[in-house]
Amino acid sequence: MTVRRSRIVACGSALPRRAVSNLELAETVDTSDEWIVQRTGIRQRYIAGPDEKTSDLAIAAARAALDRAGLTGSEIDLIVLATTTPDNTFPATASRVQAALGMVGGVAFDVQAVCSGFVFALSTADNMMRLGQANRALVIGAETFTRILDWNDRGTCVLFGDGAGAVVLEASLGNGDADDRGILSTHLRSDGRLHDALYVDGGVSSTGTVGHVRMEGREVFKHAVTNMAECAEIALKANGLTVDAVDWLVPHQANRRIIEATCRKLGLPLDRVIMCVERHANTSAASVPLALDEAVTDGRIKPGDMVLMDAMGGGFTWGSALARW
Ligand code: UT7
Repeated sequence: MTVRRSRIVACGSALPRRAVSNLELAETVDTSDEWIVQRTGIRQRYIAGPDEKTSDLAIAAARAALDRAGLTGSEIDLIVLATTTPDNTFPATASRVQAALGMVGGVAFDVQAVCSGFVFALSTADNMMRLGQANRALVIGAETFTRILDWNDRGTCVLFGDGAGAVVLEASLGNGDADDRGILSTHLRSDGRLHDALYVDGGVSSTGTVGHVRMEGREVFKHAVTNMAECAEIALKANGLTVDAVDWLVPHQANRRIIEATCRKLGLPLDRVIMCVERHANTSAASVPLALDEAVTDGRIKPGDMVLMDAMGGGFTWGSALARW
């Protein structure tokens, strides 16, 4: 049976100009390089300057992905952008990206699922493309997450960074089995009862302020491991596969220990995991596409590889996407 799928044909990414090491951070925050590396694996993060907005990073990442795909913005008919830190309350940051890329048709909008945002955006675009509502899409995860940090809260401010990653999706036809190239399946979940374990204490309709990230770290850690392992297993089962079939896991990059514990649960060796948390820290919706771009660019992810993307974030939200590259 012939089925319509979407396939990732190119990746791109962008980082702010300024990298800040743990040592530099420890000059103003009551922390140490040793604590941060031991508890999280993070060694540095990029912090956007006042002139670097979420849309600037998103546009740069999207342009890099389009260049690699040999396409222009006018050939794209869908942009789904995941962010928790939009330029403005409205309109969507995606509309700025749409205009900057010279895309005059189609549709561009944002989705919000915090650190799971890229997987949610990918799932949205994939489903629209399967239904024939779009033929070529840009899926972007972009954040200036450091704008919502409380620099007096050492339990959160050392963990996050800024950046953007983008992928170009093209519609393709397959046989409907796991040998098809393209996105094989996506699975999304959420549980609103856990809202208060990871949230921002401000917002348009609550306080009228932007607010800061608040987190119960241990609670989030525990659920992250359980939920990311669960979603990975669901993706494999849905495609009649076992963990042995996975060439690369591209997990949300929040904490090296979360990734390691998830892999132990899955029985997946760490040499099949893409990890860049040490250089980027947690960039929320940008973390999975930043990791993807790095691994595709350096040749680790190759055509035909089975790639499992997996994320977890505030809400709680979590989800996975399985793709044959
Ligand atoms: O994308 C999803 C978003 N978030 C996450 O995935 C984060 C999930 N959680 C985590 O990654 C971990 O829970 C953290 C890295 C946030 C914290 O690690 P932990 O091993 O759970 O440490 P903890 O919160 O239990 O704190 C241990 C100690 C405390 O001191 P006492 O009470 O034992 O004396 C903290 O005050 O470490 C202290 N501490 C710090 N010390 C130095 C907390 N933050 C820092 C810091 N520098 N930055």
